[in-house]
Amino acid sequence: MSDQKKLFIRTYGCQMNVYDSERMAEALGADGYIETDTPDDADMILLNTCHIREKAAEKVYSELGRFKGLKADKPDLKIGVAGCVAQAEGQEIMRRQPLVDLVVGPQTYHRLPQMMAQVAKGEKAMDTDFPEEDKFEHLPGRHGAKKAMRNPSAFLTVQEGCDKFCAFCVVPYTRGAEVSRPVDRILREAHDLVERGVREITLLGQNVNAYHGAGEGGDWSLARLIWALDTIDGLERIRFTTSHPNDMNDDLIEAHGTCAKLMPYLHLPVQSGSDKILKRMNRSHTADSYLRLIERIREARPDILLSGDFIVGFPEEDDQDFEDTMSLIREVNYGQAYSFKYSTRPGTPAAERALVDDAVATDRLHRLQALLTDQQRSIQQSMVGKEVGVLFEKKGRLDGQMVGKSDHLHAVHVHAPDGQVGELRRVKIVESSTNSLAGELVV
Ligand code: 5AD
Ligand code: SF4
Repeated sequence: MSDQKKLFIRTYGCQMNVYDSERMAEALGADGYIETDTPDDADMILLNTCHIREKAAEKVYSELGRFKGLKADKPDLKIGVAGCVAQAEGQEIMRRQPLVDLVVGPQTYHRLPQMMAQVAKGEKAMDTDFPEEDKFEHLPGRHGAKKAMRNPSAFLTVQEGCDKFCAFCVVPYTRGAEVSRPVDRILREAHDLVERGVREITLLGQNVNAYHGAGEGGDWSLARLIWALDTIDGLERIRFTTSHPNDMNDDLIEAHGTCAKLMPYLHLPVQSGSDKILKRMNRSHTADSYLRLIERIREARPDILLSGDFIVGFPEEDDQDFEDTMSLIREVNYGQAYSFKYSTRPGTPAAERALVDDAVATDRLHRLQALLTDQQRSIQQSMVGKEVGVLFEKKGRLDGQMVGKSDHLHAVHVHAPDGQVGELRRVKIVESSTNSLAGELVV
């Protein structure tokens, strides 16, 4: 319908931002917006930004600059900035980029419809509060945005913020203190998602395994929440991310061995393999305690695929510290990993410390990534000949082909002419290529 207003959202950063973008689209959907895949025909452009590493704000400014022509052609076009850069630098964005009509933080996007009403009157709107009210209670149900509805795999934020204060990290400042959502609201949202065709839910939180939301009989752990989700008919798979090693408690480890819907994949960042650096990072665990934890998790679920985050070139990291990280990686054997060169974040404790020489840090990053890539490839290769479940997410490029994710979160292409989006099928893996697997239906 031509009178419907079009919304274009570009999402940067973590899965929590992906979830927030969906919810913002739903909030604006209730206000008459439908999503579009291109900024060119949009009436509203929203950049949902990430502040975790350097140059994030610069990226936002250069992206905004590119919309200048669009706005000149279409003076009614509205431009908004959301997410963690908005939270941290909202005032500055408004001052520096007159194209921007609206700035909204991660905790206030339920107020978007009111803000849009203000913007429609030609005013600027900015809201980066940490409000008293629970934003989720003021958002529409999960039936809104058409685009999100097609995917049988959905995110569900259960916990936000972080109280860990790792010395390098902005999250405790941009996302605020740790808050867990109440159990009944999460279960209601999960039921809504399943009703609209979702088969897999990934529970999200900056520190998801620290979840302790209010439920029947007191605060519930993440494991207890997972067991409650396990009883929902039609929900086939459960995942969660991101976890902190210190919150990996016994019942959660046990659930990996006993809950069939809980997938054999765990993202458990360690950041460094050197105790000296872990201490300076304020991580409050050691390399050895992490390795022992991994042993226990593998005892519970031997085929679990482990994923991690690493930072190289943290202040005072010397060659030996780096070698300790390499040894830890060799010992764990990761199936997936994200690695970064340390990036100074103003306002964090590590920001005051002397930097490692950039060329040295770059060299370390390359070596570390080469090792992690080798591990990922050989774990992916080892899937050949095995049978896995694949949840079909969309049609592939070839005729009769479906694409989905395996239990271990590998992308898999399957020849399945009768395949439907949302089906979970048994597949035998026959080939491994750079970024995906190929499989055949098991009949
Ligand atoms: N520099 C580099 N990497 C960082 N991360 C968080 N803050 C920084 C930083 N200042 C990485 C961590 C974290 C992931 C989400 O981003 O590895 O786990
Ligand atoms: Fe940041 Fe550390 Fe909290 Fe993760 S645990 S969000 S790295 S402060």
